[in-house]
Amino acid sequence: MTEFPIALDFTTGGSHQGSTDSKRQASAGCMFCGMGGFATGLIQAGFAVDWANDNDEFACRAFQHRLPSVQLIEKDVRELSVGNDCLPTVDLLAAGFPCQSFSQAGSRRGFDDPRGALFYEIPRLIEEYRPQERPSLIVLENVPHLLYGADGRWFDQVRRALRRAGYWFREESCWTVNVKDVTNLPQDRERLFMVAASREQFSFNPFAPPELLNGSEAVTPSIDGFVDRKRRGDNDAYLPPDNRYYKMIDKAMSEGESDANIYQLRRSYVREKKENLCPTLTANMGIGGHNVPFVKDAWGIRRLSITEVARLQGFDGSEEFFPGMPVAEQYRLLGNAVCVGLARLIGKMCADIFSGEAVRDG
Ligand SMILES: C[S@@+](CC[C@H](N)C(=O)[O-])C[C@H]1O[C@@H](n2cnc3c(N)ncnc32)[C@H](O)[C@@H]1O
Repeated sequence: MTEFPIALDFTTGGSHQGSTDSKRQASAGCMFCGMGGFATGLIQAGFAVDWANDNDEFACRAFQHRLPSVQLIEKDVRELSVGNDCLPTVDLLAAGFPCQSFSQAGSRRGFDDPRGALFYEIPRLIEEYRPQERPSLIVLENVPHLLYGADGRWFDQVRRALRRAGYWFREESCWTVNVKDVTNLPQDRERLFMVAASREQFSFNPFAPPELLNGSEAVTPSIDGFVDRKRRGDNDAYLPPDNRYYKMIDKAMSEGESDANIYQLRRSYVREKKENLCPTLTANMGIGGHNVPFVKDAWGIRRLSITEVARLQGFDGSEEFFPGMPVAEQYRLLGNAVCVGLARLIGKMCADIFSGEAVRDG
């Protein structure tokens, strides 16, 4: 799967009029990098990730442990500065900015929520670069509801900010995509990718969501390859029969379609995830109660392990990500991560744009 480095070929590619340096590895920077889902996918797609930023202590610890060669700036994004933090110019800027305020399940306060307003740090930082040094492509990741929320006003705000910063950007440059449909990961997780192209580098936005992937990545396997029921899990992963949720979950499992499915605890009920899929993994799945995914094995009812959750998010589950970190934090970081399989796919699409293979009429 790994194909790198991407040979950036600015001599082909129609109207992409970038650097005169004809062959070099494409570079990327990651804002809101978390534990590094986006960064990992981009590296797998052939990019060199030059720098990354997040302000969360645990996210930074995990990121640095996994990707030690990336320059990681641990600070509030509102204090991040091209000049003071010596951020080199990059070809692609990735930003999976906080989504709680745009999510249907969240506050829906959009840019009025301070977490939603962090989006504006992206154009603010980009505009610190001189126009010809700004990233050629910006790839934003968030929840699909951002497109429609507040009667389209949220999306309008994103569009205006990116255009003001010197980018081609419109609704047609957005891709709403489900992990289960385009990767080999059996997770039902719908996300929105928004790709903006620099007006300095392109004469139009060359990104277009694929109508049909040619099947290369999209073979949704069953959860059986991801959930290990043959081995006993850690003791603390099992629900004791006197736990207040045990009866609820046990009942749902015995009444459900199959107890080989994953069952997720919602606020006041248990939901069976059918079709051999894993439900959307969320940041709060590790703190008990809401959204915790449970499975049944020969030893009882247990939550998915860190390794299983990592694999379902596209990380190599054999890594030791989080030395000495509280387990709830580990689940939070994994639930927050951009799915590596999606990041790799979008990275490959951008790599094709850079190498001139994806240029279409605007
Ligand atoms: C959805 S997660 C990002 C996941 C990540 N992009 C990835 O590739 O896996 C959003 C991230 O924004 C970070 N964040 C929130 N507020 C921030 C701030 N003020 N400054 C920097 N990072 C912030 C959070 O710590 C969290 O890691």
